[in-house]
Amino acid sequence: MSDTENQSGNPDFSSILDARLSRRSLLKGSLAAAAASYIGGGLLLSAAGDAKAAMRQLKLAFSAVPKSLADAVQLPPGYSYSLLLATGDPIAAGVADYANDGSDEAGSFARRAGDHHDGMHFFGLGSGDQRDPRATSRGLLCINHEAVTAAFLHPKGQTIADGRRISDQEVLKEMLAHGVSVVEVERSGRQWRVRRDSRFNRRITSFTDMELSGPAARSRLLVTRYSQTGTRTRGTLANCANGHTPWGTYLTCEENWAGYFRRLPDDDARRSPRELVAFRRYGVGGKGKELWATVQPDTADNRYGRWDAGVRGTSADGSDDYRNAANTYGWVVEIDPFNPESTPRKRTALGRFAHEGAWPGPVVAGEPLVWYMGCDSRGEYIYKYVSSARWDPADAGKGMAAGDKYLDDGKLYAARFNADGSGDWLELKLGMNGIMRDGSPYAFTDQADVLIHARLAADAAGATKMDRPEWGAVNPRNGEVYMTLTHNQNRGPEQVDAANPRSYTDARAGKQGKGNVNGHIIRWAEQDGRVAATRFRWDVFLFAARESADRERVNLSALTAENDFSSPDGLWFSQSGLLWIETDDSAYTDTSNCMLLAAIPGQVGDGGKRDVPNSDAGGERRVSTQVGAEATASTLRRFLVGPVDCEITGLAESPDGRALFVNIQHPGETTKGEDFNLANPSTYLSHWPAGGQARPRSATIVITRDDGGMIGADFA
Ligand code: FEO
Ligand code: CA
Ligand code: CA
Ligand code: CA
Repeated sequence: MSDTENQSGNPDFSSILDARLSRRSLLKGSLAAAAASYIGGGLLLSAAGDAKAAMRQLKLAFSAVPKSLADAVQLPPGYSYSLLLATGDPIAAGVADYANDGSDEAGSFARRAGDHHDGMHFFGLGSGDQRDPRATSRGLLCINHEAVTAAFLHPKGQTIADGRRISDQEVLKEMLAHGVSVVEVERSGRQWRVRRDSRFNRRITSFTDMELSGPAARSRLLVTRYSQTGTRTRGTLANCANGHTPWGTYLTCEENWAGYFRRLPDDDARRSPRELVAFRRYGVGGKGKELWATVQPDTADNRYGRWDAGVRGTSADGSDDYRNAANTYGWVVEIDPFNPESTPRKRTALGRFAHEGAWPGPVVAGEPLVWYMGCDSRGEYIYKYVSSARWDPADAGKGMAAGDKYLDDGKLYAARFNADGSGDWLELKLGMNGIMRDGSPYAFTDQADVLIHARLAADAAGATKMDRPEWGAVNPRNGEVYMTLTHNQNRGPEQVDAANPRSYTDARAGKQGKGNVNGHIIRWAEQDGRVAATRFRWDVFLFAARESADRERVNLSALTAENDFSSPDGLWFSQSGLLWIETDDSAYTDTSNCMLLAAIPGQVGDGGKRDVPNSDAGGERRVSTQVGAEATASTLRRFLVGPVDCEITGLAESPDGRALFVNIQHPGETTKGEDFNLANPSTYLSHWPAGGQARPRSATIVITRDDGGMIGADFA
């Protein structure tokens, strides 16, 4: 195997491994074998025994950070962080520093970092401005900006009168603060910074022109005044988590887009019964988050009115209004960060739902490619997409043309988790698995309709309702897939099943949550390690819980003060094989702000069968499930605690593993409480990162180790 065979966009760990291996002369050891398999041929699948041995060699290299309610980023001794890019920071030469008092000119956000930093990926950049997966001192960082904390963007918060936004400039600023940033970053010593004058720097926003690509393009369901052929749309929104491709492009995923569309109750009379079923299933109905559609007068190109998904025109097909606009959101969007002029493409073959992210699985020459995806809402599904084309390493670096080949033609599946620990991938295809033209409550017309209404197709197929699927991550050493199920207060004792087995009452004083309050992390192994398999085996890797919770019913993974957590959300593997877990919590926040933990994972089946007792007034209901090995201080430790009222999300590393990029999202977000008064900074829950009386900001931080080593772990 040659080095050039690994053309994936994955960061490259060879430098660290090479250094360790040569220093310790372990060249004939199992670690060397495992590392060579990974580096040479993509993700390791065949040498599972070697991988297991290698896993044992990875050791956590930090002491656990205590839980904290402080308004600060806390790290273990021996680690430090610096601020890289905060909300409003300029990403182009000549743009003024961010004032952070609401006075910054709205249009300037087209050249500033957006708000609510979320999913993220690092693409190595070599000399000659070429993609170089091994580049360790220069790269392109793609960062999602999921939403805004509107109060802090404007001088006096949002100006609203009679249920309408009356400042078009405020709305323009909010619309530009959503989307994606592409920024060039470079390292000098251990210090990383954004190059403001880089030709690669780019903002993609809710204004950026996008192509609708794949099997649903040209569907009559995608026709709008903007694109009467149903082949284009304007903008991306609610960019939550992310993914990437082995040819070096970024995938940004549209999650909570449905709420932004305004569709008032009087529209129902103008819609077909099928449309109403679909709107209900996707939550398109209401006044519209942030009320963007209410700005009057609208512009000639419907800058604001396009957020109104009601029937406003007289056409039969929607070509004179935006009644179908919501169908052009909810997709996985491909962006080529190396080509700033390229038009992003919404890849419809991957289905439309509340996309958290799209995580690539093993990349093997001659095999199909796979992306795992979750739909983050209570009781929603886990999906995977398998390309029809088989991976040809010669396609690396071909940008959007490679995307056309691998992301526009493939099979979409939803997951069914069986009680016995097996699982099935159910193909979402018209005429199969109960997805029918005469289906009820929804009759599908064609495969485009199936993809546009993937949730309804997965309903028909009988996929398993999960406790809010958030991030997925694929173990680079064995191809096993992990996915967080953040929590589900609606999971009553009567609804538990093997894959979502807990329903309990949380001990939090004054705010007793019920259901699966703290969430869990599920994982699975594809049959025979093949990404195209339609069968898998699963277990529950970890149950989140407060350490004091009952170990028979709640704290099933035996968490302790060093590693207890709640509401896992972000999940990400370093190429070392270290698994990182990020939280987005509001249950255990009486005890700690949100956090980042590091885990050394085992593998599916390393625990055993377990009966989980659930009880309520109606009596006890036991459910049998499969669990991973209990956590210990050497397999799971808290690495970071964030500032007040933030979410920890987004992770990326430099290809040598010596810099870890982390997003601190919306510190002090809960600004709507009765005590909040924008004019009185002492009522802000957080002032991070600036401190003092400052308005809080989301930001990307970079963590390095004081001895220059790999973040979080060492190879023993
Ligand atoms: Fe944007 Fe499900 O988190
Ligand atoms: Ca999330
Ligand atoms: Ca979340
Ligand atoms: Ca959030």
